[in-house]
Amino acid sequence: MAGKEKISHLRDEFTSKLKEVSTTEELEKLRVEFIGRKGKVTQLLKEIPNLPPEERKEFGKACNVLKAEIESAVKEKLKELKEKEKRERLEKERIDVTLPGRRRGLGALHPVTKTLKEIVKIFTSMGFTVAEGPEIETDFYNFEALNIPKGHPAREMQDTFYISDDVVLRTHTSPVQVRVMEKHQPPIQIIAPGKVYRKDADVTHTPMFHQVEGLMVDEKVTFADLKGVLEVFLKEVFGSDTKVRFRPSYFPFTEPSAEVDIGCVICGGKGCKVCKGTGWLEILGCGMVDPAVFKAVEINPETYQGFAFGMGVERIAMLKYGIDDLRLFFENDLRFLRQFRGV
Ligand code: PHE
Repeated sequence: MAGKEKISHLRDEFTSKLKEVSTTEELEKLRVEFIGRKGKVTQLLKEIPNLPPEERKEFGKACNVLKAEIESAVKEKLKELKEKEKRERLEKERIDVTLPGRRRGLGALHPVTKTLKEIVKIFTSMGFTVAEGPEIETDFYNFEALNIPKGHPAREMQDTFYISDDVVLRTHTSPVQVRVMEKHQPPIQIIAPGKVYRKDADVTHTPMFHQVEGLMVDEKVTFADLKGVLEVFLKEVFGSDTKVRFRPSYFPFTEPSAEVDIGCVICGGKGCKVCKGTGWLEILGCGMVDPAVFKAVEINPETYQGFAFGMGVERIAMLKYGIDDLRLFFENDLRFLRQFRGV
């Protein structure tokens, strides 16, 4: 076959094979078959030395033209195939943006937090402001200044975590009373919410729990003010027909002292397991600030009187939500906690 014919034959062969190509891999194979190192066109070029000298130049040129044609046809086809493959991939991977989104789980405030917030809200609406104190407290603030000297039997009432001889985890929020009165002269009207610690653990006791302390000091503050404030508070939390009673009691830092009961929220006062048949539930401790406490903070008890109260937040939450095991608050079981969404 003459050189020219060979070339045009190869061109036709390439053109018809190119039509069959449908993937980039097939295209690469075709490229190698024609213009690879051992490809058909490359082989042709190697025949040049065997040709009569006058034909060599033209033949060489024609071969190179063919090679260039094939190169540009391959390039063209490659672009076309890549676009086609991309289109197909996009078609397959299509995302349906109209599908509904994944819903996020909605959190809820912990029942203790909810109760604490509600207590704070009620007292702030009556003019109390929030005060805070440290959970790691000195013996002086936790006991001494509250008229509980070393060796006083009241220290036995509270199973204290001692950090050292003189430093404790506060057993109640009452030390905040002392810290506030030390810094401010009356009028004082504060509540102090926070964590307290006692060596105690059973169905109704956990080593950490929350209290809210209250303190009001001014000229002419009376026990009637105390009763009024606490009655409004308890009716706000437990409902306006809640029965409230004050029972004489004892705390070293108040005189006189009282414990406050509400009519049992479970049985309505008839007597049940929760109120142990009495129809009443003990809800908080309170009293008029003892002159010994005023003396420790250098407030004149002749001029000023005050009342103080302290309550357990978990206890109020239990009664409010009808929870019968304190430990549920601290297990963080989502099945329990979820029930307080939107309550
Ligand atoms: N601190 C007392 C307790 O933890 C409660 C209390 C506070 C009583 C203020 C009287 C006045 O039991």
